[in-house]
Amino acid sequence: MVKKIIMKRILVIHGPNLNLLGTREPGIYGTVTLSKINSALKKLSKTLRCHTSFLQTNHEGEIVDAIGKSKGKYDGIIINPAAFTHTSVAIRDAILAAGLPAIEVHLSNIHSREEFRHKSLISAAAQGVIMGFGPKSYELGLMALLDIIA
Ligand code: DQA
Repeated sequence: MVKKIIMKRILVIHGPNLNLLGTREPGIYGTVTLSKINSALKKLSKTLRCHTSFLQTNHEGEIVDAIGKSKGKYDGIIINPAAFTHTSVAIRDAILAAGLPAIEVHLSNIHSREEFRHKSLISAAAQGVIMGFGPKSYELGLMALLDIIA
C-alpha cells in the first residue's frame, strides 16, 4: 500500500516594521532581510515536508483577519507580532478563537530590552515562545510547531 503523506500547512505572520529588516536597527535585528528569512523557511519546509504561506503586514486588523480565516486552511501558525506583542488583545483573542497551535517568535530577546517589551499579551495564547536567536528563531519555531502538530 502506498502511504499518502499529508503535508502540514503553516501560516507565518510577520507584524509591523518587519518588512524593514535588513536596514532596521541592525544592531538589534541584524542585516538579514525578511525575504531571506522567508526563503530559509521555505527551504526548511521542503526538508520537513510542510507547506508554508507568508503574510507581512503593518496593520493589526489584517493579522486578526488572517488568523480568523486560518481554521481549516492551516494546521498551525508562527507569528512574530512585533510591536503588537505588547499591545494587542485582539491578536491574542484571534489566536484563542482559531484554536490552532501557534508559536510566538521574536528575533531579539524581548526580556533583555526596554521594560515595556518585557510583557507579551500573546504568549499565554501560544503553545510556546522562541526569542533571541535572530532569524533562527523562525526556523526553531517551525520545527517546534511541526513537532506539536505531528
Ligand atoms: C520583535 C520585538 C518587538 O518588541 C519589536 O517591537 C519588534 C520586533 C522581535 O522580533 O524581536 O518589532 O518582535
